[in-house]
Amino acid sequence: MRKRILSMVLATFMVASLLVGCGGGAGSANKVGVAMPTKDLQRWNQDGANMKEKLEAAGYTVDLQYASNDIATQVSQIENMINSGCSMLVIASIDGDSLGTVLELAKESGIPVIAYDRLIMNSDAVSYYATFDNYMVGTLQGQYIKDTLDLDNAEGPFNIELTTGDPGDNNARFFFGGAMDVLQPYIDSGKLVVKSGQTTFEEVATANWATDAAQARMDAIIAANYSDGTTLHACMCSNDSTALGVANSLEANYTGEWPIITGQDCDIASVKNILAGKQSMSIFKDTRTLASKVVEMVDAIMKGGEAPVNDTKTYDNGTGIIPSFLCEPVFADINNYKELLIDSGYYTEDQLQ
Ligand code: BGC
Repeated sequence: MRKRILSMVLATFMVASLLVGCGGGAGSANKVGVAMPTKDLQRWNQDGANMKEKLEAAGYTVDLQYASNDIATQVSQIENMINSGCSMLVIASIDGDSLGTVLELAKESGIPVIAYDRLIMNSDAVSYYATFDNYMVGTLQGQYIKDTLDLDNAEGPFNIELTTGDPGDNNARFFFGGAMDVLQPYIDSGKLVVKSGQTTFEEVATANWATDAAQARMDAIIAANYSDGTTLHACMCSNDSTALGVANSLEANYTGEWPIITGQDCDIASVKNILAGKQSMSIFKDTRTLASKVVEMVDAIMKGGEAPVNDTKTYDNGTGIIPSFLCEPVFADINNYKELLIDSGYYTEDQLQ
């Protein structure tokens, strides 16, 4: 921790001297590199666009890059950001464990790093972490299933299947852990039954959070367990891209009563599915809130101060606790989506048609 504070002080000092050297005006000392994982998922496009807009409004130049979910591409984009004079890096990693070497370079160059949404693991170059409360995302999903099936009172048993995200994404373990902390007692008591028998993180993970991978896995689960008319009551899916895969599979292979399906991100395709009764809920993580918070962090560090944080105990990246700011997620469903998504200006009605 002491080493981290020292390196943060050193990085801040170096950024401050760069700013003084340039008179604090435009130029490379004012440039922030923003590395995003992929354009394939709607949320990262929104995150990137929001970050760029807000950073520019605060007077910074922005180098925004997307890496098509390819680790080598992301590493070389970050290398370029460092070599082209970015004085701060904001990174949503593809694989949290693959950036150690390139970030050594950032550290040697005195460039502070903020891990965006996903924690970067095993690197002491990470100064701060900004995200949504990932464990809470999972508990909200578990709680939704618990409440909707009325697990404490209904007789059951109910059949459930579980789908989570990419093993290289530290968040996935928090989402899955949070959901299972709510659901596991009911699995243990037999009120919830996982007919596929797949209940460990490794068994239910989805590489790259890919829709087609989640769909293919669900095809096999339905063929083996639910093609004889057995009812599937709930599908705990950790996010919208996996929920979409599960819903596609059900549509093609399953004729029983439609199950509860959870998700996360409120991607347009999933909100449309909520309106069509094909997905029950999604977690709303307002990317505008996260982007604003990260811009506040960038600005504070650039001005030689400390970034705002509200959690200094949850996120250890293997080199120590990373001071974090956790935004609060909420759930959206058919009953509250209007207020959360339309009235707040996140989407227009037309986008959801
Ligand atoms: C994010 C989720 C997203 C998932 C897939 C996670 O790290 O927190 O919002 O759905 O990645 O991109």
